[in-house]
Amino acid sequence: MSARIIPVQPFDYVVFGATGDLTRRKLIPALYHRFADGQFDERSRIIGVSRSELSDADFQKFAGDAVSEFVDKVDQHKDVIARFVSCFSYIANDVTDKDGWADLEKALRTDPEIERAFYLAVAPGLFGPICEYLDNKGYWRRDARVVVEKPLGQDLESSMEINDAISEVFAEDQVYRIDHYLGKETVQNLLALRFGNILFEPIWDAAHIDHVQITVAEDVGAGTRGYYDDSGALRDMVQNHMMQLLCLVAMEPPASDDANALRDEKLKVLRSLKPITGDNVSKFTVRGQYKGGAVNGGSVTSYQDELPDDKKGSKTETFVAIKAEVENWRWSGVPFYLRTGKRLPSRVSEIVIQFRAIPHSIFDHAEGAPKPNKLVLRLQPDEGVKLFLMIKDPGPGGMRLREVPLNLSFAETFSERTPEAYERLLMDVIRGNQTLFMRRDELEAAWRWIDPIRQAWDNASDAPQTYTAGTWGPTASVALIERDGRTWHEGDA
Ligand code: BG6
Repeated sequence: MSARIIPVQPFDYVVFGATGDLTRRKLIPALYHRFADGQFDERSRIIGVSRSELSDADFQKFAGDAVSEFVDKVDQHKDVIARFVSCFSYIANDVTDKDGWADLEKALRTDPEIERAFYLAVAPGLFGPICEYLDNKGYWRRDARVVVEKPLGQDLESSMEINDAISEVFAEDQVYRIDHYLGKETVQNLLALRFGNILFEPIWDAAHIDHVQITVAEDVGAGTRGYYDDSGALRDMVQNHMMQLLCLVAMEPPASDDANALRDEKLKVLRSLKPITGDNVSKFTVRGQYKGGAVNGGSVTSYQDELPDDKKGSKTETFVAIKAEVENWRWSGVPFYLRTGKRLPSRVSEIVIQFRAIPHSIFDHAEGAPKPNKLVLRLQPDEGVKLFLMIKDPGPGGMRLREVPLNLSFAETFSERTPEAYERLLMDVIRGNQTLFMRRDELEAAWRWIDPIRQAWDNASDAPQTYTAGTWGPTASVALIERDGRTWHEGDA
């Protein structure tokens, strides 16, 4: 056990949607790691709720299987797994059936020292009814927490309906809206880098930064995921993950790391985003959909071919590029280029801060012109930070300038495993720390910016531009940045 692990209070974590994909792939493996590291022990309970008729033993087996499938073999220890799954119990309950709640009432412990959280890993249509039952049955406590995650609506209106239903029962300080990008180590590192060092903040503005790029590229496809076609990349990735990243780059320094201090600053950024409406939608946004092609050496089919028959002809975008602007003193005139897509050449997420050129070069006679500095924060894979600097190429032969990266690779610098986002977030819920969760007003401000883009696309007669799987999206996304005299940062270039 690492000395830095601070154990949390024992808890009852009730997971609705207990047998679903999110629970299996993300929640159970994340909880396993926290258990294996000693952050909680057998005094805590994970109570699964779903419609399937399972026994406690079945659910414990389900948990054990999830660990063996999704946790690295080196981290799997038989005795730890056995102790871990003993924390799991199960209640078969159709949440829309009023009579099915008695077992849950029995399972929950009343000791106020036991933290209580409800994780709603179910369709958002069930959030309202579940909260209502929790309220009626008295499972609710002033210190109980409810955890929800996207899709929190399809637009501002539907998101407000969902939030209204939750807030009928839970106060805002009890609601934990997950954006798992905020739990990623490098994303938190952005805060450490900006506000834990003197170096960057004085030059973190329009006078020194030319533009910012945020890329979240995935090599996987999307068409076989039922939910995706109703969502598309704009709702699936931009409205939440990408806009949160943008906020962390652009926000003013908060006065403290208090959850609301930080979220107040993010909200100001969201409210400062220049609306993209009318003709500007086609000027500042690009949407694409992948055709067949080759990714990682293997051939893959088109998005259309992956879709079931009743969805064929779908105009859902699998790629988005946007030129965004934050209209305030700090960022006036600094574009934020966002791009995300499925079936791109590789899985890579990064934030690139491109600084301005030096004001005057004294190296006219040197080989190699000074290139503007660049800070690259790599979220995945190979998490780390690179600062590209100009140096003198060593050796004789006159002044030759060369660009080299100062490279902080997490894998090389830290021997520990990089924790998954959910590990941090699930424990923050128990600690009662909302810093890395979205507040309602943030979510709604993000929808306010997204909705006009979505509407313009929906009303447009044209379809998304196609791109060959395994390329960096439609050519229009290259034009989006190149007509401003800039280029997308690719890999270590
Ligand atoms: C999810 C999206 O929120 O994030 C998925 O719904 C996407 O479509 C995923 O694949 C990406 O997350 P990560 O952590 O793998 O970058």
